[in-house]
Amino acid sequence: MYLIKFVESKLYRIRGFMHPTDAFAFAGILSNQADRSIKGMLVEIGVFYGRSFSLLALHAKASGSVAVGIDLFDIAGQQSYVDNILAKLDVASSAAIIAQPSESVGAEGLVSQYKKARFFHIDGGHERHHLLADLGLAMHVMSDDCVVVFDDFMNAQYPDLSVAIIDSIQEHSESLVPFAITRAKLYTCNPRMKEMYMEALLNSMRPPGSHIDKFSFLGSEILFIDQRVKERAIFQAFAAAGIGSVARSFTAKSSLGFTRQ
Ligand SMILES: C[S@@+](CC[C@H](N)C(=O)[O-])C[C@H]1O[C@@H](n2cnc3c(N)ncnc32)[C@H](O)[C@@H]1O
Repeated sequence: MYLIKFVESKLYRIRGFMHPTDAFAFAGILSNQADRSIKGMLVEIGVFYGRSFSLLALHAKASGSVAVGIDLFDIAGQQSYVDNILAKLDVASSAAIIAQPSESVGAEGLVSQYKKARFFHIDGGHERHHLLADLGLAMHVMSDDCVVVFDDFMNAQYPDLSVAIIDSIQEHSESLVPFAITRAKLYTCNPRMKEMYMEALLNSMRPPGSHIDKFSFLGSEILFIDQRVKERAIFQAFAAAGIGSVARSFTAKSSLGFTRQ
């Protein structure tokens, strides 16, 4: 519940990109892992100004894990902004920042320092070679319980990225299968954990005005979680003012079925 409270009151005060559907999905997956006493590091490639990373670091602190954030940090003031956010949230001791290209981060060093990963968010470079290198790192550090999340899947701005993601999950189908999709991200895990993570998302809180459906993708069932555009804007505006929980009362009851946006 503390993760949802954070999403509703602090997440949207931090610069960055993250749809409410994904913020709630991250919270649902991480809470489910905590309930099942699954341990391990949380990794993010592509910290930017720390919006999604702050959620990981908060959960890392609460669960006695470490959140590892990898980024080039090549914008003036970017890394100090992130350091400041982590300090303000009092989670800096549970966060490890690696300021270098993800391609040069070694799997062995990460695992020997922080143990295997149970959550890996790939949101760094958007070219095919970036995706292949980042997924290569994920495959080397992930535990059997790990959720690997791909950003900007099916974003028309990055068609090669989507092709690279599809090629990769087909190549690694014995260890990665999609279980959920949103407008911005694809969620994958070991095939043995798929039902469990689908169940976790079906049972976890979603943002106001959202709905969840089941569709077929690459021959198997996955969840599609979506939020109407108007409700997304309302929620983000309230959450940026620190009162995201209030947005629910301004939102029409969510309906099941397709939304065209
Ligand atoms: C879309 S932003 C990430 C958004 C962020 N997750 C959030 O919540 O707002 C992409 C980030 O990836 C980083 N990046 C791009 N190429 C990279 C690379 N080769 N290695 C590490 N980070 C990279 C960029 O510096 C940028 O901060």
